[in-house]
Amino acid sequence: MSNPSLLILPGDGIGPEVMAEVRRVIDWLGAKRGIVFDVSEGLVGGCAYDKYGTPLHDDTMAQAQAVDAVLLGAVGGPQYDNLDFSVKPERGLLRLRKEMDLFANLRPAQCFDALADFSSLKKDVVAGLDIMIVRELTSGVYFGEPRGIFTEGNERVGINTQRYTESEIARVARAALELARKRSKKLCSMEKANVMESGVLWRDVVSKIAAEEYPDIAVSHMYADNGAMQLVRAPKQFDVIVTDNLFGDILSDCAAMLTGSLGMLPSASLGAPMKNGRPKALYEPVHGSAPDIAGQGKANPIACILSFAMALRYSFDLGAEADRLEKAVEKVLADGVRTADLMGPEGGVPVSTTGMGDAVLAALDASL
Ligand code: IPM
Ligand code: MG
Repeated sequence: MSNPSLLILPGDGIGPEVMAEVRRVIDWLGAKRGIVFDVSEGLVGGCAYDKYGTPLHDDTMAQAQAVDAVLLGAVGGPQYDNLDFSVKPERGLLRLRKEMDLFANLRPAQCFDALADFSSLKKDVVAGLDIMIVRELTSGVYFGEPRGIFTEGNERVGINTQRYTESEIARVARAALELARKRSKKLCSMEKANVMESGVLWRDVVSKIAAEEYPDIAVSHMYADNGAMQLVRAPKQFDVIVTDNLFGDILSDCAAMLTGSLGMLPSASLGAPMKNGRPKALYEPVHGSAPDIAGQGKANPIACILSFAMALRYSFDLGAEADRLEKAVEKVLADGVRTADLMGPEGGVPVSTTGMGDAVLAALDASL
């Protein structure tokens, strides 16, 4: 059998720095665990635009379609702000999501014990928090037609369209219900059925599928604005949340910040199963390219490392190795190793991006 394949797209800003630490973890697995990946690397985002005039070259797209999993750093930067929409760095990411048909975006928001004080909420509200937002990723207002800026009479009008088909709702609902089954058998679906027809349909389809196929899961429904409020009021009432593309974008940022550390959160974007039975998949940290600290060795590589842990679990059936990596990260945090973004009021000396990588590798060694 050939080695599992991985396409690495470090992207822009701090992407290459945090990804370099993941490469060390990959090498560690090869050297110490005999788990060897065929790793290739490509460009996405602004760096691809600089080289090819497009944020995602067709060859890179084809490579992404051919591998077992894609690992992405981050895209974007202020120098690309005025580019035409069609070639903005973000379009590279959106094209990957759309053409790989990665409809289920898993965004865990987990509060590490060692970091509970970092949340802007009170410690007892967030300590032990472990929720999973499943965001629909390939449809809705991000992709709906018509879209554009048009002229109507003597003024311009900007139009985007929220559009969901039953099957699009059904497949992400099933993905979320499957996850709920593996967790605490509780799912909350969020939309705005009080004002949007797409929300009425969303609620209807989720209810039907849950009733017919997942009678063991307790399903509730909430308007997304109330959901946002409940997330900051009492986030531990939730376990798995399923929602559309735009609400998911917003609610997942909100959930991420509950944990006090955006630099810690991984994500997985999953599609339909491939020939090998595993889903098409792209893994990326929730944080962005952080151009303000890029190239300074300050970035926290943990979100990207934990994204690779998700890849081990969901794409490579290496749950035990994923556990080992997640435990190593927890150990490092418990030992007080901190990058600059994790410095509390008590201060201390932050480690660099590489320093955090060193600590994780040492914890991995210690786990053997
Ligand atoms: C995210 C980001 C993206 C999105 C951007 C970079 C296009 O905010 O992954 O949450 O809006 O989906
Ligand atoms: Mg976002």
